[in-house]
Amino acid sequence: MTKKLYIETVGCQMNVLDSELVVASLRKHDYELTDSTTDADTILFNTCSVRQHAEDKIYSALGRLKNAKKSNPNKIIGVLGCMAQKDQRLIFQRAPFVDLIVGPGQLHQVPDLIKEVEAGAGQQLEVSLGRKEGSRDQIERSHESFDPLRDPAMRPTPFQAYVRIQIGCDKFCTYCIVPSVRGPEQSRPPFQILSEAQQLADEGCKEIILLGQTVNSYRFRDGEQETRLSDLLYSLHEIDGIERIKFITNYPKDMTDDLLEAVRDLPKCSKYLHVPIQTASNRLLERMKRGYTVEEYLVMMDRIREWLPEVAVTSDFIVGFCGETEEDFQLTCDLVREQRFKNSFIFKYSERPGTKGAEHYPDDVPDEVKRRRNNELLAIQNTISEEDNQRFLGQEVEVLVEGPSKASLKSDANNDSQQVQLTGRTMCDRIVVFDGNRRQIGQTLPVKIYDASIHTLFGLVVTQHVGPELFSLRT
Ligand code: SAH
Ligand code: SF4
Ligand code: F3S
Repeated sequence: MTKKLYIETVGCQMNVLDSELVVASLRKHDYELTDSTTDADTILFNTCSVRQHAEDKIYSALGRLKNAKKSNPNKIIGVLGCMAQKDQRLIFQRAPFVDLIVGPGQLHQVPDLIKEVEAGAGQQLEVSLGRKEGSRDQIERSHESFDPLRDPAMRPTPFQAYVRIQIGCDKFCTYCIVPSVRGPEQSRPPFQILSEAQQLADEGCKEIILLGQTVNSYRFRDGEQETRLSDLLYSLHEIDGIERIKFITNYPKDMTDDLLEAVRDLPKCSKYLHVPIQTASNRLLERMKRGYTVEEYLVMMDRIREWLPEVAVTSDFIVGFCGETEEDFQLTCDLVREQRFKNSFIFKYSERPGTKGAEHYPDDVPDEVKRRRNNELLAIQNTISEEDNQRFLGQEVEVLVEGPSKASLKSDANNDSQQVQLTGRTMCDRIVVFDGNRRQIGQTLPVKIYDASIHTLFGLVVTQHVGPELFSLRT
């Protein structure tokens, strides 16, 4: 009999991919998705620990399920992902009605663990070894990359797919929990990545987005032979059917010339690079142990622009890190004004117990100051993003159509009309919204831009010539 699965995902693209794969594996065990926790036989939360807020969200969602479990004790509730790895048994203490806790390195076990619970075996906990709980080799093996066969039906759109090329992280930025919950940095063997990409292309996938916490640190050694991200890009580029290749997230120190050269020379590579700087204060960069100075980051930006004059660069920032003064913050504002990133993701520092940051430096910037700095920096970035988008007015861009826009999904929930507002992205990762027809989903179309806001370009599909003189902009 078919069972119903409700799954909620927070966190980064790694988690989105993990959830996609967990759902695909449960579909093989006769599960189908539901968006109601009431109807669900199994409720899973795929969690994130990068900031306190992400954890609070999950604990309060769990709190709301307490009664659901009381009225239906057969409902299975599971906590997966980074918070499962970080909090482990603590989750059973805070939410005793949870049935399973599964770390990111054990996701392949989820179907079996659910069966154990169904069979009456009680609460299940499967997590990886901590960073000090064994030899590097043992710890690496306990963090297993979860990359089973793909299921096109489970992707956000069948035309795009995340492909994991690396798991874990060894950079140990002092504020960050990721190295301890995702384990040591490990690069997947190139043949696995290539065969997965080939399978995706055979299924009609046009865009692949390679994932790694520091994706450009990718290195796979096989005897004498070393494969770098640039080598991988050349091989992936050969795959027929794949039209676009992106990769996130880059680590500034590993932005080597061979990679920039590959991105320049390979037409399928998106001219879009996400390379977070985090702060423009050298004193704080040092405290964060990011491994570069502002000056070095700027030299890297110059190199990026030399190799790729049309590139779109985005960054992450943490405001209110321990000891951040107004002067430090102003340095960051100045850098954002000068570098004119396409977009910036700005976060208020959230102390993570167990990190070096929490151990050595007091979280001494008051929350209201963090909030103000966050808003101020965001306002600067928003002005730049909007100005940057204005440059596209009147231009024609190539859009890979992803599906109905968010607005049309809201207003047309029950409307199956063919004419809808569609959304897609340009080669350099800009979001474009335009009116079109459902059959255009998955196509790559020329769109002429007539309006632009901070995050979105608005356009009209350029149709082909229909006669010697007649040229229409609208479908
Ligand atoms: N691996 C990626 C990012 C992982 S986390 C990288 O190194 O760039 C995504 C972003 O969250 C980080 O870039 C950082 O800006 C932010 N972040 C990480 N830990 C944080 C913390 N403790 N508080 C606030 N923001 C944090
Ligand atoms: Fe965290 Fe730094 Fe690793 Fe990114 S590089 S995941 S910020 S430790
Ligand atoms: Fe969060 Fe884990 Fe990603 S902590 S940001 S979901 S790797």
